[in-house]
Amino acid sequence: MDSPMSADPLDAAKRLAAARAAELVRPGMRLGLGTGSTAKHFVDCVGEKVRAGMDLLCVPTSEATRAQAAALGIPLTTLDETPDLDLTVDGTDEFDPELRLIKGGGGALLREKIVASASARMVVITDRSKEVARLGRFPLPVEVISFGLEATRRHIERAAARVGCAGTPALRRGRDGHVFVTDSGNSILDCAFGVIPDPEALAAALAAIPGVVEHGLFIGVARAIIVADASGVNIRGELA
Ligand code: A5P
Repeated sequence: MDSPMSADPLDAAKRLAAARAAELVRPGMRLGLGTGSTAKHFVDCVGEKVRAGMDLLCVPTSEATRAQAAALGIPLTTLDETPDLDLTVDGTDEFDPELRLIKGGGGALLREKIVASASARMVVITDRSKEVARLGRFPLPVEVISFGLEATRRHIERAAARVGCAGTPALRRGRDGHVFVTDSGNSILDCAFGVIPDPEALAAALAAIPGVVEHGLFIGVARAIIVADASGVNIRGELA
């Protein structure tokens, strides 16, 4: 495990947000474990609680998180066995003042949205760099079925244009140049639309396209956002 003291101020902020979220964890809780570099710190905190004897049952949002949690000895379950969770804690790629999010930079948006939606509460942990006045600085990830991908890509482009978003969805590739494949075997189209004038309208338009499995707009999902920087944490929304 990394040292709790970090030389990287951004990473220190992520740890701070994760530690604050860990204070919400109570014995007997069923938890959703997010994905990404911020959620990783929260999973470490959960691992410490389990090691100290706390009874918890967790659902990971990705294979990467599953591997980390398993290595820490965290008891894991599935949404088939445990369909109702008490709390999910996850990171984000962007958030706005209305607690709307863009997620999926790590490619885990589908499982993240399913797990968050199965939870009584989703609390987001992040550093201040992810804060925007209007969503769209981060390219919106859209998970699509590989079959008919070019046709789906064009549908997305046209549907987005109708709600004021211009841009060409780009097929995500890994560093090795191969097409990125999600944990559920799908592809990701990254949509650099710039400012999204109407996130709700875009979310509805994307959800209606055959071939789109899920998009990275999380609207009405996050109950609270724990935002950290060097000076401490700030809470948006209601943690309780
Ligand atoms: C994973 O697909 C994402 O939704 C992550 O939750 C998001 O990218 C935040 O990741 P970091 O905490 O690494 O910035």
